[in-house]
Amino acid sequence: MADKKPIDDKVKGKSIAVLTSGGDAPGMNAAVRAVVRAGIGKGFKMIGVYRGYNGLLNGDVKELKLRSVSDIIGRGGTILYTARSEEYKTPEGIMKAAEFCRSLNIVGLVVIGGDGSFRGARALAAQGIPCVGIPGTIDNDIACTDYTVGFDTAMNTALDMIDRIRDTAQSHDRCSVIEVMGRHCGDIALQTGIAVGATAIIVPEVPYNIEEDVIARIYEQKATGKKHFIVVVAEGVGKKGHGNIADSLANYIEKRTGIETRATILGHVQRGGCPTLRDRVMATAMGVAAVDILYDSIDSKEQVSRVVASRGGKIVDFDITEALDMQNDFDKHLYDVALRVSI
Ligand code: F6P
Repeated sequence: MADKKPIDDKVKGKSIAVLTSGGDAPGMNAAVRAVVRAGIGKGFKMIGVYRGYNGLLNGDVKELKLRSVSDIIGRGGTILYTARSEEYKTPEGIMKAAEFCRSLNIVGLVVIGGDGSFRGARALAAQGIPCVGIPGTIDNDIACTDYTVGFDTAMNTALDMIDRIRDTAQSHDRCSVIEVMGRHCGDIALQTGIAVGATAIIVPEVPYNIEEDVIARIYEQKATGKKHFIVVVAEGVGKKGHGNIADSLANYIEKRTGIETRATILGHVQRGGCPTLRDRVMATAMGVAAVDILYDSIDSKEQVSRVVASRGGKIVDFDITEALDMQNDFDKHLYDVALRVSI
């Protein structure tokens, strides 16, 4: 298939742009690749926008051809780079970006990122540029979708790291407190906590009492012979300006139990690395779906502002406003499952 040959008249001379915005996530490259390949397959000219919305403000764009996205499906990070743009958030910035899109005959923009990135997409759609979001964040905190690209890789990285920490905690009969990412969402903590057999899992969605939910559990397990302990805490549990939650928990545990305790903040290691199979497949399915939405909306008189989502194993899409208004459901059942087995 030739890069430039239009498949039908509907797309002749029209372009679709793609950008990544907000925090990078493993699998973003797989999504970019899918968008570019599916778009070229439909006959669009494909344009990569660099460093998030900033690229629309300063003309930092490049045509992406079939081979421009070769060998990136398994690469972490984002070949398009990413950024959070302050200028774009202003009404002038949004209008400037829309004008730029029109000047390149961009009839649709695919935005790979999180909630904040989708707000930016909605603002551009209101200026007449059709936009489709793909959920790309390690946090899994986008309410309309069961899954966000990057989540599986981040969890597996955290799992690997915590398994290593367990080796040393066990050797020293210590307690290890591990802080994982997730912004305000406890999903990474919950799932990795279960997978490493944590004594306690602390997430922002469930109020906790340190005596009952951590100290008492350590004492109970100690009484049945356990000598090393893993506590997984989500970063969102900490309060801004109060130091990090992992250190304060570790200090408290050591003081109350006499067990030597160490704190580890996993940090940005969770954002890097080769995407897992699940992230590559999900990113690919979502990328193709995003292009299909834009293709179907060519010449639409309606404002096109959609987000692709995975629900019950199916790829669906929602209006961005509807998606942003949804409340993220925490899996309380899974949390209870964790409590029942970490005894
Ligand atoms: O949203 C992804 C994320 O990694 C969060 O888990 C974390 O709170 C935040 O981004 C960190 O942002 P930054 O890379 O700007 O420090």
